[in-house]
Amino acid sequence: MKNILITGGAGFIGSHVVRLFVNKYPDYLIYNLDALTYAGNLENLNDIENAPNYTFLKADINDANSIQDLFQKYRFDSVIHLAAESHVDRSITDPLSFLKTNIFGTVNLLNAAKDLWKENFSSHLFYHISTDEVYGTLGETGLFTEKTGYDPNSPYSASKASSDHFVRAYGETYGLPYIISNCSNNYGPNQFPEKLIPLFINNIIEKKPLPVYGDGNYTRDWLYVIDHATAIDLTFHKGKIKETFNIGGFNEWKNIDLVKLLCGLMDEKLNRPKGSSEQLITFVKDRPGHDLRYAIDASKINTQLGWKPSLTFEEGLSKTIDWYLNNTSWLKNVTSGAYQEYYKNQYKK
Ligand code: NAD
Ligand code: DAU
Repeated sequence: MKNILITGGAGFIGSHVVRLFVNKYPDYLIYNLDALTYAGNLENLNDIENAPNYTFLKADINDANSIQDLFQKYRFDSVIHLAAESHVDRSITDPLSFLKTNIFGTVNLLNAAKDLWKENFSSHLFYHISTDEVYGTLGETGLFTEKTGYDPNSPYSASKASSDHFVRAYGETYGLPYIISNCSNNYGPNQFPEKLIPLFINNIIEKKPLPVYGDGNYTRDWLYVIDHATAIDLTFHKGKIKETFNIGGFNEWKNIDLVKLLCGLMDEKLNRPKGSSEQLITFVKDRPGHDLRYAIDASKINTQLGWKPSLTFEEGLSKTIDWYLNNTSWLKNVTSGAYQEYYKNQYKK
């Protein structure tokens, strides 16, 4: 029996990782620890909430004492750490909460793991889920490799970069076994509609403006979330300790081209006249410190672990849109209340 702690499992990527592990490994005990912030939603896990190998623990990684107590009580063998503040725009208005959760919260988990495992580190793993944003921005060419130097530009990416450094430092200083993976932009079901794709799907449904930052010529590398979960599963089981793996979709899109593709698909699926969603595109004030381009060289995880994305972008985007159109009550629940206030402040002229 393995006792695996997954943090942030009620969020977007975490919920797909929890589901995959609960269903695929009935002999593992999966503990999902989440503070249920605005981004955490247990509705994401309705289908597995009663599984015999699944336990939800409501806790805040910023609370060092509770984290220590939970490690001592459940004696986790391994950790897959996803809990974080994850939205760049929120980090620009409130950097401190990113510093607290992403850096202090991660260090609280590292301390609890170190204290529990220190007699014998073998057969344990602290797997830290990070982002390609730690590498900063690319120009028109080139790819981020595992050897690219860290050069974060936003409070979010600075906090994630710092947490990566702490994980590595605990490996070097205390011998804590760790792996880090740095992934590109995820999309898919259950993503909170503050991020580009679900926000624009929601706005198209509601016939609201589509706020494209700057000139829209920013490039991201998109990966379907379940392909990220599969990469996490492989890396967790087969990745070499103290290594870093870049994960990406080999799938670069300029924002404006992606938005036009999305608009076309939405017109078809909503039976609206061709071109009607595109008319909602509105160019708005740019994001401060906006990184021009991210693109991942995922050849290491491909050659060492045999991972590659399973879906084309058109397939993934089509499945994603279908999910949102079939789950309008999920979308309504998460866009009521505090979301309205966030939206008003973020997109005011
Ligand atoms: P998300 O915002 O959807 O979910 C984050 C989860 O963490 C939520 O369930 C939230 O309740 C929980 N959480 C936040 N603060 C917490 C705290 N103090 N204590 C306990 N739980 C807390 O995020 P996501 O997009 O699923 O990202 C998950 C991880 O993957 C993050 O570490 C993020 O940096 C990383 N990542 C995300 C992407 C992406 O494109 N979304 C890409 C690469 C890496
Ligand atoms: O690269 C991995 C990262 O991808 C993750 O670490 C982050 O957690 C995740 O949020 C994501 O960061 P981005 O900033 O790239 O994602 P976002 O969806 O916020 O924005 C994608 C692009 O779209 C970016 O260039 C900004 C632009 N954008 C975004 C929003 C929300 C707009 O033009 N308008 C918008 O309203």
